[in-house]
Amino acid sequence: MTTEAVSRPQTAARPDPSGSSPRSGQPLRVALLGCGTVGSEVARLLIDSSADLQARIGRPLELVGIAVRRLNRPRAGLDPELFTTDAEALVGRDDVDLVVEVIGGIEPARTLILSALRHGASVVTANKALLAEDGATLFTAAEDAGVDLYFEAAVAGAIPIVRPLRESLVGDEITSVIGIVNGTTNFILDKMDGEGAGFAETLSDAQALGYAEADPTADVEGFDAAAKAAILASLAFHTRVTAADVYREGITDVTTSDIASARAIGFVVKLLAICELADPDADGQRSVSVRVHPAMIPRSHPLASVGGAYNAVFVESRSAGRLMFYGPGAGGSPTASAVLGDLVTVARNRVRGAAGPGESSYAARPVSPIDDVVTRYHISLEVADVTGVLASIATCFAEHGVSIQTVRQAGRGSDAQLVIVTHRARDAALSATVRALRTLPAVREVASVMRVEGDV
Ligand code: NDP
Ligand code: HSE
Repeated sequence: MTTEAVSRPQTAARPDPSGSSPRSGQPLRVALLGCGTVGSEVARLLIDSSADLQARIGRPLELVGIAVRRLNRPRAGLDPELFTTDAEALVGRDDVDLVVEVIGGIEPARTLILSALRHGASVVTANKALLAEDGATLFTAAEDAGVDLYFEAAVAGAIPIVRPLRESLVGDEITSVIGIVNGTTNFILDKMDGEGAGFAETLSDAQALGYAEADPTADVEGFDAAAKAAILASLAFHTRVTAADVYREGITDVTTSDIASARAIGFVVKLLAICELADPDADGQRSVSVRVHPAMIPRSHPLASVGGAYNAVFVESRSAGRLMFYGPGAGGSPTASAVLGDLVTVARNRVRGAAGPGESSYAARPVSPIDDVVTRYHISLEVADVTGVLASIATCFAEHGVSIQTVRQAGRGSDAQLVIVTHRARDAALSATVRALRTLPAVREVASVMRVEGDV
């Protein structure tokens, strides 16, 4: 391992364009932060594919250190000498050109990335939680240092979606991005739908397969998808959207009866991330809405057939029309593919003395509240099977301006189950309707309320 130190300009790109730098032809040195599900695959690919990576970049990549929490864990195929628990010292080394952050979480990841950027290293990260919470600080630091911050793996695992939004579609006007962006919850919902499996056992399977976050609450409560939605909306609409701006519901309240009810009307339940650009208001201002929640979609909808831990992202834009991106959304090897793609790109940029695109947030659009979202709803009610019950319920919907599209009734002795699907209505109007339904004497229980997305 070489220990040569090179001084680093702090505020400008660090070119090696002509081959005249003292380091020309020498390896680009890579520090890896984290060697878990994703990091171990990144390390493996760096070693196994070193000759091809060198050919693609024009210079070799040399893995000079790996920061972990526990030194005593077995790390098959990796030189024990590479490992350290002193991540700060690793990113502070003057001879590190590229830093890959796959620790996850907010701290120490944020401090380490900022330190790496300030030391002049380009950074590749898979950390959607951090980008969605404080991406602006990271982008500013990268801009100030004239280096790259790439994050393809942060959204939808192996699927190229960040670069298409950031680069390929940057000349177009994106109007909506709708996706299944969490592999764990899709895996769980798919098994509940296909096999009638229970929630807890399916979550354990997802954890064993390396799909779930360290704390699976992030997956099942929708935090992970909300972070990805914030990143997607920021990229698509050239504005800053943080995780706190995203309306979020997870899948822990989705019951087997919701899934059966969806199935009965030809729908399937998916956890969706929905990012929409509104039409201009009276002042010409265009707001965005960004939300994550379970939704029923028709089985004929392209997102309905996305199974297992696969992800898919639907993009609609003014000129290109409808685009669908599909592939493995989680797991060590698929995610490492996206990390390596970024690593090659930032390495090439470095060799050319260039930097890729930075943050584009010029549009500064307001984020509209969930109350203003307009969509359709599926409502399941347990009611007394008495004369006039249907009329009283229909009146309640009408009084709140919510129009009913279909009603299905199944009798059960003295009770009946009513399943109502509405036309498009404001979320605030639907919430008010549900509150009023709960006060009707004939309504025993509002058993479930779920949004319905996708054209029928
Ligand atoms: P893991 O929990 O499997 O791995 C985390 C790694 O970070 C471990 O090697 C751990 O060390 C190390 N680590 C934790 N804390 C520290 C610390 N303070 N200092 C140094 N090292 C530390 O996570 P994943 O690989 O699953 O995820 C990594 C990132 O990739 C996250 O941001 C995640 O959201 C993202 N991601 C994950 C995907 C997946 O499918 N798993 C898909 C897409 C993105 P040790 O090994 O000693 O415990
Ligand atoms: N836990 C995440 C998921 C990993 O299940 O999608 C990929 O970001």
